[in-house]
Amino acid sequence: MSKIVFIGGGNMASCLIGGMLANGFSKRDILVGEPGESARQRIESTHGVNSTDDNLSAASAAEIIVLAVKPQILGAVAMSLAPALSHQPTIISIAAGIPVSALQNWLGEGLKIVRAMPNTPAMVQTGATGLFASQSLAPEEKNIVEKMFGAVGYTCWVENEALIDAVTAVSGSGPAYFFLVYEAMQQVGQELGLDSKTATQLTLHTALGAARLALDADTSPSELRQQVTSPGGTTQAAVESFQDQGLEEIFRTAMTSAVDRAKQMSTDFAS
Ligand SMILES: NC(=O)c1ccc[n+]([C@@H]2O[C@H](COP(=O)([O-])OP(=O)(O)OC[C@H]3O[C@@H](n4cnc5c(N)ncnc54)[C@H](OP(=O)(O)O)[C@@H]3O)[C@@H](O)[C@H]2O)c1
Repeated sequence: MSKIVFIGGGNMASCLIGGMLANGFSKRDILVGEPGESARQRIESTHGVNSTDDNLSAASAAEIIVLAVKPQILGAVAMSLAPALSHQPTIISIAAGIPVSALQNWLGEGLKIVRAMPNTPAMVQTGATGLFASQSLAPEEKNIVEKMFGAVGYTCWVENEALIDAVTAVSGSGPAYFFLVYEAMQQVGQELGLDSKTATQLTLHTALGAARLALDADTSPSELRQQVTSPGGTTQAAVESFQDQGLEEIFRTAMTSAVDRAKQMSTDFAS
């Protein structure tokens, strides 16, 4: 029996499998169900795990099933798996916006369902994943879920399902916000005379250093900011400009849009 079956062998499945194998999971315990031949070849050659185009037989042999397909097709894929789940495997869905209620409708009532919201830095094992369980998991089940996602970075559990949309808005979509800031700082750095490589390296090392400093310090972000802001200095001039232009409100509006979109996806793809 393969303990952990991934349905969908794309980017996120590959990130998770890579992290899991680097953190003590065995290739023999992982199987990938994926219809695309090239995706199957890619995942087999990258990670040395087995794959199959037969989702149903893969699911029937699983202790844990990770649903790693796009939200648009999750309903059809989940319904096709339902006949293979009488042995009550734990289901983990990483799809944005698809609620437990829809998954239960498609897969069958009574299954233990975990919603996980990872992010793409999982590729370099510095991801952040929010987890929600539809019903309480046995300690060993909770432990294995934490180990799977802990293999690719930070994990936390949230107490109610609505908070998964908040996790989506903060960390699921979050890497793109930082890439947007990276793009802007790199561009303006060049306009100020730096060459592209220098502007890029200075921006990225500043992001890395700021994150490391904040993670290591037992200090609020506003205190950290004040520590690097001398009165009347250059940082103060820039920070006041951001604040005058309503930076916090810009983030509030953007992240609320991400939550609204997650809710809309639940209507579009799960009703
Ligand atoms: N990427 C992110 O940042 C991120 C973050 C958090 C959560 N997620 C969630 O992760 C999930 C997967 O995203 P992804 O970026 O990994 O997408 P992806 O790279 O497109 O991977 C999905 C894979 O599923 C395959 N597939 C299609 N139909 C299938 C079927 N019937 N059975 C099994 N596999 C099938 C696809 O094959 P084809 O290409 O041949 O169709 C593709 O290889 C999504 O639900 C997304 O919301 C992604």
